[in-house]
Amino acid sequence: MNAELLHGDLAQAGDKQISNAPQACTDDEQAQSKPDAPIIKILNLQKSYTTQTKPLTIFDGLSCDVARGSFLSIIGPSGCGKSTLLKVISGLEPFSGGTVEFNGRKVSRPPCGMIYVFQQYAKSILPWRTVLENIDFGLQSRFRVPKRQAQEQCMEYIRLVGLEGYEDYYPYQLSGGMQQRVVIARALICEPEVLLMDEPFSAVDAMTRALLQELILKIWTALPITILFVTHDVEEAVFLSSRIIALKKAPGGMSDDVDVDLAYPRDPVETRSERRFQEIRQAFFKSIFSQEKASF
Ligand SMILES: Nc1ncnc2c1ncn2[C@@H]1O[C@H](COP(=O)(O)OP(=O)(O)O)[C@@H](O)[C@H]1O
Ligand SMILES: [Mg+2]
Repeated sequence: MNAELLHGDLAQAGDKQISNAPQACTDDEQAQSKPDAPIIKILNLQKSYTTQTKPLTIFDGLSCDVARGSFLSIIGPSGCGKSTLLKVISGLEPFSGGTVEFNGRKVSRPPCGMIYVFQQYAKSILPWRTVLENIDFGLQSRFRVPKRQAQEQCMEYIRLVGLEGYEDYYPYQLSGGMQQRVVIARALICEPEVLLMDEPFSAVDAMTRALLQELILKIWTALPITILFVTHDVEEAVFLSSRIIALKKAPGGMSDDVDVDLAYPRDPVETRSERRFQEIRQAFFKSIFSQEKASF
C-alpha cells in the first residue's frame, strides 16, 4: 500500500477494497542508513504543473539537503509550493528534472520508511474501526504481526499519543485533536524514518494545536525520526523546528534557510516569551507578509 492510500482518503476506500492492497517493505527497499549522510537530498529540482492556459513552474532548480534527525519546517506564502515539495519528496508527485534521494536512493514512488500525514485527518481515519483497530491497520499494512503482539504494539503507541482508555472508541466519539493523534499513532507504528506532515494541526482550535505541538516534539525527541513539517504559521514553525526553510512565490525557490538556535526541550509558554524566539518569528513574518501583500 502506498503512503497516499494509507494516510490519505482511506475513508472513501472501504475495508474490503483496501484489504487487498497492503505491501510490506521488501528487503531491497529497507534503506541502508548512513548516520552522517543527509537523509534526504534534493538537487536541481524542476517541477511544473500543466494547466489549461500555460505550464505553471513551481520549482526551477531547487536544491536542499535534510539532516537525519532534524525537525525541518517549510513555510512560505500560500501557493508557493510547500505541499508540492512534500509530495515530490514522498514520491507521490512526479517531477520533470533534478533528483530527490532518500537514504541515497532515488525517489520515484513512495518509498518504504517515509509516511505522509495529511491535513484532513477526518478523511484519513477509518470511521468503522475503533482507535485500536485504526492503529492496527497501519501496523498490518507494513508488517505481519500476530494478533496479541499487534495489540501490545498498538497499546504502546496509544500511550505515546496519550489516548490510553480510548482504545475502543470510534472516531465519531473523539474530538478533532484526538482523531489527529490516532492518525499520528497509526503513522508512527510503521516506524518511519521520515514523517512528512502537511499542515497537520490547521483544523484544530488554538489550545489543542499547542498541545499537539508539544506532543509532536515529545515524539520527535523520543524516537529516531526526521520530521518535515509544512505550515503557514510562522510561530508554529519557530516553536517546533531545528531548521526552517522559507519558499518564495513560485517559481522563486528558497528565500531563507535558518537554523533555529533555541534550546530543546521547548516549553509552550517560556520558549514563546524568549527574545530570540520573537526575533526569528518577526523576521519570517515580515518576509512572508510582504510577499502575501504584494499579490493580495
Ligand atoms: N495538480 C495540480 N495541477 C495544477 N496546479 C497545481 C496542482 N497542484 C497545485 N497546483 C498549483 O501549484 C501551486 C503550488 O501549490 P501548493 O504546493 O499546494 O502550494 P502551497 O502548499 O504552498 O499553498 C499553486 O498555485 C497551486 O494552485
Ligand atoms: Mg499546501
